[in-house]
Amino acid sequence: MVLAFGPFAARLCGAIRLTNLVDYAALRGECRRTTITAADYATWGGFYEKCIGSLAMVLALASAEAANAATVLITGANRGLGLEFARLYANRGWDVIATCRTPAEAEDLDALKVQHPKVMIEELDVTDQSEIDGLAAKYKDHPIDLLINNAGILGELGDQSLGSFDHEEFKRVMDTNVYGALAVTQAFKDNVIASEHKKIVAMTSVAGSLVGPWQNIGGLYYYRASKSALNNVMRAVGIDLKKHGVVVGLVAPGAAGTDMLRDDFKYKGPMVAPAESVAGMVKAIDGFTQENASHPINYDGEALDW
Ligand SMILES: NC(=O)c1ccc[n+]([C@@H]2O[C@H](COP(=O)([O-])OP(=O)(O)OC[C@H]3O[C@@H](n4cnc5c(N)ncnc54)[C@H](OP(=O)(O)O)[C@@H]3O)[C@@H](O)[C@H]2O)c1
Repeated sequence: MVLAFGPFAARLCGAIRLTNLVDYAALRGECRRTTITAADYATWGGFYEKCIGSLAMVLALASAEAANAATVLITGANRGLGLEFARLYANRGWDVIATCRTPAEAEDLDALKVQHPKVMIEELDVTDQSEIDGLAAKYKDHPIDLLINNAGILGELGDQSLGSFDHEEFKRVMDTNVYGALAVTQAFKDNVIASEHKKIVAMTSVAGSLVGPWQNIGGLYYYRASKSALNNVMRAVGIDLKKHGVVVGLVAPGAAGTDMLRDDFKYKGPMVAPAESVAGMVKAIDGFTQENASHPINYDGEALDW
């Protein structure tokens, strides 16, 4: 497009330059003068040439941006870290498929779409197979460069302490955090394979590791089980999709000040702002390759021990 537009712009420049110099001469009442002076050319020809040159540049940049435009699909994009991912990729000019359970209540996504019309808000509960299938059918032939399995729940704290276990709550946490990510990944893997960037990411947590800050802390059984399981299965997905050139990575947001940490976990320690956390994770995602994506990366760039 850029190459094709160059000669066209040059021809257009020439045509407009001649036409306007003749008009200009007529306007000045210089009908007797049939030649265009060097001064005429310098005044008007150069002006129009610059205008057309600028237009050509704007069109070339727009077409280059269109050529670079990539698509990201984010689960749980209506609030917290998912919303920040949507904001960041929308600001980059990407097509953003921002999925959430209740689009009718996703005011922040609506506001983002006003600023960035390339944001598409779609309904998706990651535990609802029929919704997953429906969305996958809708985007069947649409390459997805990056799939971010962000949706997750902490689970009721009281139900996951020793002595108060609740099997239904355990299943809800595992369904959302583990099976949900797997089911969404399975449904959209062909879209990722068909894309240019070919990346799938899931959100892990230090609570899912056997080492690090949680190694001497009890409790939070379901959530930590879910993130350990997620680490393991996403690694398996990475091995299975490697032959298609897909890179599968895990990122951890640190202690990010979202509803999950503040309201659900009642965390009182220092927190990182969600936007900062997401900016760090996106940097890690940008840098993911087949060679380095085998370990989870924290938002600050540090590799996490399992
Ligand atoms: N914040 C942290 O410090 C932290 C640390 C480590 C890992 N993480 C992980 O980061 C991810 C995002 O967490 P967050 O802090 O942004 O949490 P959040 O503020 O509680 O947001 C969670 C998001 O997940 C969505 N969600 C929950 N269940 C869903 C389902 N079944 N289907 C689709 N969407 C669902 C929520 O949608 P609704 O609005 O409909 O509920 C919401 O959009 C989670 O996987 C979490 O485990 C967070």
